[in-house]
Amino acid sequence: MKLLLENIKELVQVEEQPVPFRAGKEMAKVNTIKNAFLIIRDEVIEAFGPMYQLKDAYIDDDLRLEIDCSNRLVYPSFCDSHTHLVYPAPREKEFVDRIKGLSYEEIARRGGGILNSAKRLHETSEEDLFNHAMDRITEIVKMGTGAVEIKSGYGLNTEDELKMLRVIRRIKETVPICIKATFLGAHAIPQEYKSNPAEYADVVINEMIPQVAAEELADYIDVFCDRGFFSVEDTERILMAGMKYGLRAKIHANELGLTGGIQAGVKYNALSVDHLEFVGDAEIAALKDSETMPTVLPGAAFFLNMPFSPVRKMIEAGLPVALASDYNPGSSPSGNMSFISAMGCIKYNMIPEEVINATTLNTAYAMGISDNCGSIARGKIANLFITREMPGIDYLPYSYGTNLVETVILNGEVQSF
Ligand code: NIG
Ligand code: FE
Repeated sequence: MKLLLENIKELVQVEEQPVPFRAGKEMAKVNTIKNAFLIIRDEVIEAFGPMYQLKDAYIDDDLRLEIDCSNRLVYPSFCDSHTHLVYPAPREKEFVDRIKGLSYEEIARRGGGILNSAKRLHETSEEDLFNHAMDRITEIVKMGTGAVEIKSGYGLNTEDELKMLRVIRRIKETVPICIKATFLGAHAIPQEYKSNPAEYADVVINEMIPQVAAEELADYIDVFCDRGFFSVEDTERILMAGMKYGLRAKIHANELGLTGGIQAGVKYNALSVDHLEFVGDAEIAALKDSETMPTVLPGAAFFLNMPFSPVRKMIEAGLPVALASDYNPGSSPSGNMSFISAMGCIKYNMIPEEVINATTLNTAYAMGISDNCGSIARGKIANLFITREMPGIDYLPYSYGTNLVETVILNGEVQSF
């Protein structure tokens, strides 16, 4: 079964020789083909090129559908490598509390924040959690996301963490996009362990990780390693325990201070270290030549009025940078990757090409799927979107707040909403 996209004004993020990610100066490079065609066979990208190379041979009996993409661009789907989109309820009251002067950390200290979501999650059925999360998945798919990582971390006890991960597994079995599950039992310190966080880390290590692994519920392990949350020492113990069960690390680090989280992530060969509002020379040196993807979450910095990560400095030092949404009820209640792209340009001074690499290929790497997703390359999964009529790649981050995604193709199938 074949699908032909023809007369594409510009086919974006094309790779003849796929690379796992782009770093430093390479981030400014995005290959595109003007006036292009693209052929999808079953769920895979089979061929592409300029229209004049579209041979009759391609147009055979197998051809099921032709889509005229005149004046439209075709992009690989966004890969969103950091979300918490399984959650019981929004937290807009805390948003108002912050407007009135409370800080995110103060709200957390008063039992709001993540602990508030954990309490609500405990009272919410698996069915309801699944349904709410599916609404959010539909929402992000319409905005061009074709792969998403989802974390647990609103359970904070064994039973509820497993409940969240089972919901993620059910989402994985239901939707046509690529899902990766991350176990984040160490997301916050529950009230009863406030005076002894190490004891809660022991529960994560001795009780939760073995069960998560036994049911094969997670691909990765995460820890919120930051001031007022988990210490570097407890983070390292948890990462080691997870790695023993084959769970690679992806950690929250340096959102609230220069805490050593980035170095801990690199030490344990984390796939990514995420947030990175606080990055100095020592952190850049640690990341250099590592296999760890520095991942910045513009939505959280914007929504919480945090300092913006020194992305230019990282890119100029030769590092790769990925941009993900952090979709969650407390610090970034949006999974809109076009808006994340706009913020990449506006708040972090990235050029549109850098933003494309940061939201497709580099986030694909940060979720361990860059062999199959993140670019238009032969043999990769046909997850892509066709835009509305628009002039060129600069227009997408420029048009912040507008959804330019008109048609979504996942696993080679045109989606209808
Ligand atoms: O990535 N930083 C820690 N965790 C989430 C926030 C979760 C919440 O507030 O519910 C984040 O920003
Ligand atoms: Fe997060």
